[in-house]
Amino acid sequence: VRLDSKEKRNEPPGPRPLPLLGNLLQIDLKRPHKTLCELSKKYGSVFTLYFGINKVVVLAGYETVREALVNYAEEFGERNISPILNDINQGHGILFANGESWKELRYFALTTLKDFEFGKRLSHKILAECSYLIQAIEEHKGEPFDTALPINYATANIIFSVVYGCRFDYNDPIFTKMVKRATHATCVTGSASVQLYNMFPRLFRWIKNRQVVLKYVETTIRDAKYLITYLKETLDPDTCQGFVDCFLIWKQKEEEFGIDDSHYSEENLIFTVIDLFVAGTDTTAATLRWGLLLMAKYPHVQEQVHEELRHVVGSRQVSVDDRKNLPYTDAVIHEIQRLANILPACLPHQTSRDVTFQGYFIKKGTVVFPLLTSVLYDESEWESPHTFNPSHFLDKEGKFVKRDAFMPFSAGHRVCLGEGLAKMELFLFFTSLIQRFCFTPPLGITEDELDLTPAVGFTTPPSSHMLCAVSRH
Ligand code: HEM
Repeated sequence: VRLDSKEKRNEPPGPRPLPLLGNLLQIDLKRPHKTLCELSKKYGSVFTLYFGINKVVVLAGYETVREALVNYAEEFGERNISPILNDINQGHGILFANGESWKELRYFALTTLKDFEFGKRLSHKILAECSYLIQAIEEHKGEPFDTALPINYATANIIFSVVYGCRFDYNDPIFTKMVKRATHATCVTGSASVQLYNMFPRLFRWIKNRQVVLKYVETTIRDAKYLITYLKETLDPDTCQGFVDCFLIWKQKEEEFGIDDSHYSEENLIFTVIDLFVAGTDTTAATLRWGLLLMAKYPHVQEQVHEELRHVVGSRQVSVDDRKNLPYTDAVIHEIQRLANILPACLPHQTSRDVTFQGYFIKKGTVVFPLLTSVLYDESEWESPHTFNPSHFLDKEGKFVKRDAFMPFSAGHRVCLGEGLAKMELFLFFTSLIQRFCFTPPLGITEDELDLTPAVGFTTPPSSHMLCAVSRH
């Protein structure tokens, strides 16, 4: 690795890289964020690491991550697009795109989501889905079941309602295939062999997992096209049932005005739809599953949540307005999200220009990992960073308190676009389920034996497990 003299002088410190391999031998590739947290103890809150020949600057700790993403929002606000993601999206959509097109689509998606929130349209959709989820869980009659499927179906349906304006039955084979494919595709995209391809794209172009991902993408595009074509044919310019309708109506308007450098293209529509699905389904489902698992592990917390709900809401359906009167429940949901730490190393960013940050020179185009784990578990911010402790979000009188280092959605220009939607889903799904069921470990397993080791992958859901949902009625 050759450095020019300017970089050499001010470059963030880090372990010495080997030729070609960089620091790969030092990194636990299954849980890289763990290695990165350990390295930050030795090298400080801004340090350099080489994944093969790819240089990465890691930002660690609340103060540093916030300063970079908020105070230097422009400089640290670009998305880094790895070779596999470039193969998939080719710069279209929101999640893995940059520039004017990203800006326009992000703004459009945000305003559309805001419109749906207005008049409680969104919360009605979520509450309707709660009933289907409760029904699906009730079918297990208190026997052990894997929480993954019904919860993934419920969060997938919310995205489908937002995007297409419709939901699917949990037994519909087309729907179940789409959900399972997305989950599997995310796992394969994060696999070790695909990481190797990202480091050495020419050498590992033909690895099997890359072909598997590309095949999944092809089928996903086909499905999205099919649904979009149906909506195009039945489009009513006066009613927007979902994001796709709004996009198509806007596209038509631009065409009428003869705008020819439009970002409202077919490719951008397809990839934005896919992005919302990929970003919004597994993340929310994984958090909810952590929530139920933690409730089964800490029954006294579950009982306190249930008691608060019984006292404040009673037996009627919960509503978003109840949140302000449920401080303990709100604190528990925040603590679940903090501990769940769903995107431990965020999504990769890159510098949009040369920048001097905390005295270090970082060149334009350098890959940057804002290490969210190091914020959510920051020892100088949290009283007990590694244990489940809802008091992190409560004051002495038991009132809910916001905490600055609560950053599971990241911050700055790239902050999660679905933050509002995800928070609404987590609150309504979680409270509706706790109102109705008591979650316990399967017979023969004690609370202590419930495993809190996260699964390996791009996101960190709990490892596969079974729970019982005992009806409270
Ligand atoms: C990006 C977290 C749910 C849509 C992100 C990022 C994080 C995140 C950490 C990366 C931010 C960055 O690069 O700095 C979460 C968590 C969720 C969740 C923890 C649930 C608990 C959702 C939902 C949607 C969504 C429901 C759907 C609307 C997106 C999109 C981006 C994103 C489109 C890319 C934004 C961009 O690059 O401009 N999310 N997210 N997320 N999220 Fe979420």
